Amino acid sequence: MTPDLMEAGAQRLASYRERTASVVDGEQVYFGQGVALYVDEITVSFDGFRALNRLSLTIDVGELRCIIGPNGAGKTTMMDCITGKTRPDSGTVFFGSNVDLLRLSEPQIAQIGVGRKFQKPTVYEQLSVFENLELALKADRRVRAALFHRLSGEQLARIEEVLLLIHLKDAAQRTAGLLSHGQKQWLEIGMLLMQDPKLLLLDEPVAGMTDEETERTAELFLTLEGQHSLVVVEHDMKFVDQLTQGRKKVTVLHEGSVLAEGLLSEVQANEKVVEVYLGR
Ligand SMILES: Nc1ncnc2c1ncn2[C@@H]1O[C@H](COP(=O)(O)OP(=O)(O)OP(=O)(O)O)[C@@H](O)[C@H]1O
Ligand SMILES: [Mg+2]
Repeated sequence: MTPDLMEAGAQRLASYRERTASVVDGEQVYFGQGVALYVDEITVSFDGFRALNRLSLTIDVGELRCIIGPNGAGKTTMMDCITGKTRPDSGTVFFGSNVDLLRLSEPQIAQIGVGRKFQKPTVYEQLSVFENLELALKADRRVRAALFHRLSGEQLARIEEVLLLIHLKDAAQRTAGLLSHGQKQWLEIGMLLMQDPKLLLLDEPVAGMTDEETERTAELFLTLEGQHSLVVVEHDMKFVDQLTQGRKKVTVLHEGSVLAEGLLSEVQANEKVVEVYLGR
């Protein structure tokens, strides 16, 4: 590694540590080895069918990793295991160097810094964009209690920062229900960001978006890279190309395991990968 790259890596780690305040029952996550997520040999069976088959994967601190693979490959099931929605039959899932996610409940996993975006946007349609972000900030999700609680200067600044990031600054007072599909997706990502997750899991984030919205989403994710680790599952290869910029590794899942890993151009030229995509 060149000194420049090492320096950049050290800075990334430092900013990551600074932001590490998530504690669950006195447990704090550490990113000592530069690893954000460590998945080792997880297997998930549904009535004898193996949705995940000894899947192993490591995501670095601040890394943006795209995961591709044909329908039914196990991509969503993998996210379900990381977020505690599904318990694997066997295997290991660690967040940072010390937190065993398989011991934590779904809400605890969210609390310790793993944010997940589902495909369908779930925003409060009747509330404004600003109010949606405000609510996401509060641990107390009861709408009235949260909205009538005064924001601190710091909280206001964070909302402003996120509004800029998600391109909704001019729409801050608009009712969320009136936003376009793409804007609702951004708002939901913004709501996740309010919790300052260290790891963000995004399942098909640009499905249903226009080309322009897709491009803006790529820009947003590239901005988040480094500050957060991102795992992005997508079928849209143009989007994956925009995110990986010809230099980042992508992971190809197939039948519950990693089939290939490498640059997008490499895996797209990989015979095994071509075969599983054509075979579906
Ligand atoms: N709760 C469940 N019960 C039974 N089978 C399931 C369950 N969840 C997923 N599966 C099966 O596990 C396999 C993997 O599904 P998964 O949803 O993880 O795939 P995916 O890679 O996300 O696919 P897609 O690209 O279509 O979203 C599929 O064959 C699916 O039918
Ligand atoms: Mg899926």
